[in-house]
Amino acid sequence: MAEVLFDRVEKRFSTKHALVIALADLSLQVNDGEFLVLVGPSGCGKTTALRLVAGLETPTAGSIVIDGRRVNDVPPKDRDIAMVFQNYALYPHMTVYDNLAFGLRMRHVPHREIYRLIAEVAAMLEIGGLLKRKPRELSGGQRQRVALGRAIVRQPKVFLMDEPLSNLDAKLRVQTRAELVTLHRRLGVTTIYVTHDQTEAMTMGSRIAVLNAGKLQQLDTPQQLYDQPANRFVAEFIGSPSMAILRGRLSSEPPLVFWPDDAGTPPLPLSELQAQRLAAYRGREVLLGLRPEAVMPPREGKFPLSLPVAVVEPLGSDAYVTFLLGRQLLTGRFPPRGLPQPGEVHPLTLDLEAAHFFDPASGLAIR
Ligand SMILES: Nc1ncnc2c1ncn2[C@@H]1O[C@H](COP(=O)(O)OP(=O)(O)OP(=O)(O)O)[C@@H](O)[C@H]1O
Ligand SMILES: [Mg+2]
Repeated sequence: MAEVLFDRVEKRFSTKHALVIALADLSLQVNDGEFLVLVGPSGCGKTTALRLVAGLETPTAGSIVIDGRRVNDVPPKDRDIAMVFQNYALYPHMTVYDNLAFGLRMRHVPHREIYRLIAEVAAMLEIGGLLKRKPRELSGGQRQRVALGRAIVRQPKVFLMDEPLSNLDAKLRVQTRAELVTLHRRLGVTTIYVTHDQTEAMTMGSRIAVLNAGKLQQLDTPQQLYDQPANRFVAEFIGSPSMAILRGRLSSEPPLVFWPDDAGTPPLPLSELQAQRLAAYRGREVLLGLRPEAVMPPREGKFPLSLPVAVVEPLGSDAYVTFLLGRQLLTGRFPPRGLPQPGEVHPLTLDLEAAHFFDPASGLAIR
């Protein structure tokens, strides 16, 4: 059991051509037994964060603290941490069984116990039939499951998982995702799980840390991130399809309305409550965000519009319809029948009560 703390951690890399700030002033506490997801786009510093905890990198500034002990100078082997690497790093000359057994043998775990642990993990990850093969005789997804198994059998204090499901096919990914969550519930081992996939983050994490360009954007529960994104980056990153963000201007006089930029449509009326929240922004530019569920077929009591259709994406259960509001795009969720064709003008309504607002300069949510 362990608690992991990033205390004002900075990590820089200097290469021949540039200085890269991979992580900037990262403060983050992973509670004992928690399953925390680190999510963000490629290059935002996720792998670097895990490597710092594993001891494969040293912070340029700040501290990594595990269980109250500053470990900046503690070598990886003394940290009792198991990391599943993005590129698996299996021993190529060993069979799958020996790869799984390696860490346990190093710790002199009895043969029988090793056999029992491997059988259990192999069954869970469906690699029981592969135990005699070498890594080069496996598919990418199979290698990834062996790498995962190798971390699990070790029963460490902390699991670090770097996109461990990225090479699995869609069905196996969903299945393994659920199994990992169940496994975590059973073992209760503190886990930091890295992914760039927001769906994976939302379904697995009890809390999610969203990173962008080495900076922590928001640390919250999945629902809070979705309902109350702290800034435009989080708003667009979490949720699929993304929240539509409209540029426009607020009226300076009451009643408060939002004029989307060059839309040629009537302005969008805002409520009294929103007028209070946006008092400082009257007469100024703001960004108005709408999630797909706030853009829907005509309904009593919501703001009606008719807009040209740009894209229609049927999914079976429902469909995503993207409209053109002037030159800006707005995606809505529609029932799968009676869908318009691209190019047609189609009626819709907006649930403006559900709108999010952001400062166009800072990107911060206006609360
Ligand atoms: N050893 C290194 N030397 C120089 N720059 C590095 C080094 N390792 C990482 N970086 C840079 O640090 C930044 C963060 O890299 P990192 O691997 O942590 O990203 P990531 O979030 O894991 O991305 P991905 O989703 O693509 O795996 C990137 O700009 C990367 O180019
Ligand atoms: Mg990475």
